[in-house]
Amino acid sequence: MFMNFRRIHKCQCVQLLTTGLALCMLMVCWEEVDHHVVSHVRSYTYRYLINSYDFLNSSFAINSKHHPGSAGDSVTYPYLINHPGKCSVGVGGGSNALEQGDIFLLLFVKSSPENWERRQAIRDTWGNETYTRSHLQVNVRVVFVLGVHPDVKQRPKVQSALLQEDKDYGDLIQQDFLDTFHNLTAKLILQFHWAHQYCSQAHFVMSADDDVFVHISNLVKYLQQLQSSQKGVKDLWVGHVHRGAPPVRRKDSKYHVPYQLYPWPSYPDYTAGAGYVVSGDVAAKIYHATLAFNSSMYIDDVFMGICAKAMGVSPQENVYFSGEAKAPYHPCIYKHMITSHGHATDVRSLWLAATDPSVQEQSSGFMGNVYCTAVRVMLLCLPHYQSTYSCMAAFT
Ligand SMILES: *[C@@H]1O[C@H](CO)[C@@H](O)[C@H](O)[C@H]1NC(C)=O
Ligand SMILES: *[C@@H]1O[C@H](CO)[C@@H](O)[C@H](O)[C@H]1NC(C)=O
Ligand SMILES: *[C@@H]1O[C@H](CO)[C@@H](O)[C@H](O)[C@H]1NC(C)=O
Ligand SMILES: *[C@@H]1O[C@H](CO)[C@@H](O)[C@H](O)[C@H]1NC(C)=O
Repeated sequence: MFMNFRRIHKCQCVQLLTTGLALCMLMVCWEEVDHHVVSHVRSYTYRYLINSYDFLNSSFAINSKHHPGSAGDSVTYPYLINHPGKCSVGVGGGSNALEQGDIFLLLFVKSSPENWERRQAIRDTWGNETYTRSHLQVNVRVVFVLGVHPDVKQRPKVQSALLQEDKDYGDLIQQDFLDTFHNLTAKLILQFHWAHQYCSQAHFVMSADDDVFVHISNLVKYLQQLQSSQKGVKDLWVGHVHRGAPPVRRKDSKYHVPYQLYPWPSYPDYTAGAGYVVSGDVAAKIYHATLAFNSSMYIDDVFMGICAKAMGVSPQENVYFSGEAKAPYHPCIYKHMITSHGHATDVRSLWLAATDPSVQEQSSGFMGNVYCTAVRVMLLCLPHYQSTYSCMAAFT
């Protein structure tokens, strides 16, 4: 009797599972409906059950008989402002890597022509190359990547201000494309081409938005740890990972992608464009993929995911890279944070607070650790706080 009951139970379970599975499969094929939940279920099913992104390689490859620079191609635009020697400045002399001009990190900040205040705040804080050299003993190169102002009327004024700014700081890289949301992929291509052409010796390459706060010393320490544990880092692509995200089909969305551009229910995994790091070998692979691939996918993070997938590179999660949101302001967070998004105006005050020596003191020792873990659980795990980092970050 008991055995019978168990058997029925088991049968029902199997039945339920198969039904669920069949439903999921159905959703994958059911393209017309674009409901938030449906598209996510469909996408996760695709990502975790079918998971074949073989099509990327063939669908995005540019015709072999293409002419470089022709329309629709992965076009590269001419440089308006450039600094080809940026990574070779300071080469020579000295006995160690630092003095020989070894480039540890090449850091691209995606900026827009009119955002000069953000650029200035970055130069004065986490983008200060002198600070990283003297405090962290590594060479970091920070360059701002831009297109041209999209408004024809304002362009001449903005452009001459940019030229003056570049005369003062020598850290702008500009190409002749309109600096718009839908041209972000052109900006991504600019970064990987520039890195390949002028700074291929960099150990790591980072891309960040101009409203991102980068805790540069935590980042450098993290990358140095990877280097010392792996003897030369390969295949690294780290950030806040989006797994199996569905394309948005609602026409009113900023991220709308039509079926003609991307007909499949799920994107390959990618890191949030707000801030991610790749090792030098991955930067080279992405560069080669941008030459071979159609760049009409205008969401730059997704385009990066497509290139990486085709080259066999997968993104890794680090809980202290943020996606969309701002990190909580607290010394126990500052001790570990790497990036935080949405800092258009408070970069200077955050920099002072986050690099203050008291941050290390407060969280050191057994009691400090216990205290900070408790604070982080409060800040990251309780539902009523809007959290940037996942709850898991509280326990690292
Ligand atoms: C790139 O893809 C777009 C959209 O799918 C298409 O219209 C265009 O012709 C493609 N370009 C090349 C060079 O294959
Ligand atoms: C950059 O850092 C150096 C060394 O810490 C400091 O002397 C300098 O004032 C900083 N520059 C800016 C623009 O803040
Ligand atoms: C991207 O830039 C190019 C070159 O300036 C321009 O022709 C094109 O319209 C821009 N695309 C968008 C979507 O802004
Ligand atoms: C296609 O994929 C293979 C391995 O996954 C890779 O080696 C090759 O470069 C890819 N092709 C293109 C055009 O990127």
